Amino acid sequence: MKILGIESSCDETAAAVVADGNIILSDVVASQEELHRKYGGVVPEIASRAHIEAILPVIDEALATAGVKLDDVDVLAVSNRPGLVGALLVGVSAAKAIAWAVRKPLVAVDHVRAHVYAYCLQSHEIVFPCVVLIASGGHTLILHAQSPTQCRILGTTADDAAGEAFDKVAAILGLGYPGGPVIDRIAGDGDPNAIKFPRSYLERGSLNFSFSGVKTSVLYYWKGQDGRGRAEHERAPLADVVASLQEAIVDVLVDKTMLAAERMKVERVMLGGGVACNSRLRLRMKAAAEERGMHLMAPPPRHCTDNAAMVAGLAHHLALENNFASLDLEPKPALIRSEL
Ligand code: KG4
Ligand code: ZN
Repeated sequence: MKILGIESSCDETAAAVVADGNIILSDVVASQEELHRKYGGVVPEIASRAHIEAILPVIDEALATAGVKLDDVDVLAVSNRPGLVGALLVGVSAAKAIAWAVRKPLVAVDHVRAHVYAYCLQSHEIVFPCVVLIASGGHTLILHAQSPTQCRILGTTADDAAGEAFDKVAAILGLGYPGGPVIDRIAGDGDPNAIKFPRSYLERGSLNFSFSGVKTSVLYYWKGQDGRGRAEHERAPLADVVASLQEAIVDVLVDKTMLAAERMKVERVMLGGGVACNSRLRLRMKAAAEERGMHLMAPPPRHCTDNAAMVAGLAHHLALENNFASLDLEPKPALIRSEL
C-alpha cells in the first residue's frame, strides 16, 4: 500500500510517499526557518502563507522522487491535529482536494502520534510496548505506547515545551532561532555544572513538566535583576551558561522518562520530536536506560524533526484498521487526549 503523507502543522511543509508503513520512497521537507528567524519564533500568519506557496511544489517533488503518479497512490494521509490552525488548514485542504479528485481514501493523523511512529520508519525490531518522550518546540509529553495506533498520555507540560525553552533562552542570549541546535553546539565546549539553574519536578512522582522557571532564571542570570545586562566579568562564559541550561532541561527530561518507564515496567524507551536531536539528551537518556537494563530507541535527527514520512507511515496502520476520515475533515489546533 503506497501512501502520500502531508504535514503542515507548524513551520515545515512536508510530503512523503511511504509503502507498507516503512519503505520510504520519498521524503521532502521545505523548512520555513529563514522566514521566522528575524522574529525569533514561528509567526502563525507567515507560516500559513508560506505553506500555501510550498504545498503543491513539495507534493509534486515527493511524487516525482518516488516515481509515482497520483493514480498509483492508494491512500492520502494528512496530519490534522494538533498545531497552528492556519498552518494545518493548508495541508488538510490539499489532502482533501487530492483525495476527492483522484477518488482515494483519506486518513487523518495525529501529529504527536506520528512523532511516536518516526522510530518505526527504520526499525524492524520489536518496538512496543514502550515509554516515549516527545519533546519539540510545541510539545513535551511522556506517553505509554502499546502499538503504532494506541498510546496514552502519562505527562505533559504545564507551560513551555522543552524546545520552546531552548528557543526562548537562545533569544535572550542573542543566539538566533531555532535555539536548540545552536545551544547544543555551543554547550559542547561548556561546563554543564558551572551554574545550578533550577530543575522543576512539580509534586512528588509527577510526570508533568514546567520549563518557564528555568528560562526566567537564565534571563535574570544574564541580564541581572534589573534587566539591564550584567557585566561580562560578573557572569560565566556563554558556553558554560548554555551547557548549564541544557543540563537542567536534560536532567528533568531523563529523570521523568525513567520514572515513567519504571512505573510502566517497560523494557524500551523511545525519543521523538525536534529536541530528541539534542546530543546531550541522547547520551544521557541512553546511559540512564542502560543502567536500568532498558533499550533506548531514537530516530535519526531528520526524523526527530517534523516530516511527512512519519505521517504516511502511521497512516498505513490506521488504514489497516479501516480508520478513514471523511471529506469534511477539519484541522484541530489542540491536543485531544481521547483521540490520541
Ligand atoms: O519537532 P520540531 O521540528 O517541531 C515541532 O513540532 O515543534 O521541533 C523543533 C524544536 C525547536 O524548538 C528546536 O529548537 C528544537 O526542536 N531542537 C533542538 C535541537 N534540534 C532542534 N533542541 C535541542 N537540541 C537540538 N539539537
Ligand atoms: Zn512536531
